[in-house]
Amino acid sequence: MRCCVTALLLALAAVPALGEGRDLKLTFAARCAVCHGLDGSGRGAAGVRLGPRGFGESKSLGKASDADLARIIRGGSEAMPAFSFLLTEAEARRMVAEVVRPFAARRHR
Ligand code: HEC
Repeated sequence: MRCCVTALLLALAAVPALGEGRDLKLTFAARCAVCHGLDGSGRGAAGVRLGPRGFGESKSLGKASDADLARIIRGGSEAMPAFSFLLTEAEARRMVAEVVRPFAARRHR
């Protein structure tokens, strides 16, 4: 019985909508990469036309605080749709810290 409970808990943890600790890299791949690209370059299939800057480009993320970027993610900006339906404020901040900023860091190395 104990194994079944464990298996059930593991299965539930894998369902993105239920977990506080969901893997935001997966969310990025599923929801954001179409425009921003899997590599954050801004060259996703739709990004080519909508033209988000690459996260690694110097002007893009430089002066913006995590709070600013979380606000863009949840509220949208120009061609960027709002994702407040998908991400809480805390998750949007985690998205910035764990997914968006590391793309920029990688590009500058
Ligand atoms: C339909 C295409 C599209 C999707 C989907 C999309 N974005 Fe964007 N995103 C854009 C565009 C275009 C901009 C530039 C907006 C501007 O210039 O004001 C942008 C800007 C941003 C910025 C600000 C950085 C900058 O260079 O100004 C962040 C951070 C960001 N997006 C994160 C995300 C995240 C995280 C997701 C998924 C939850 C996502 N985006 C989904 C198109 C998209």
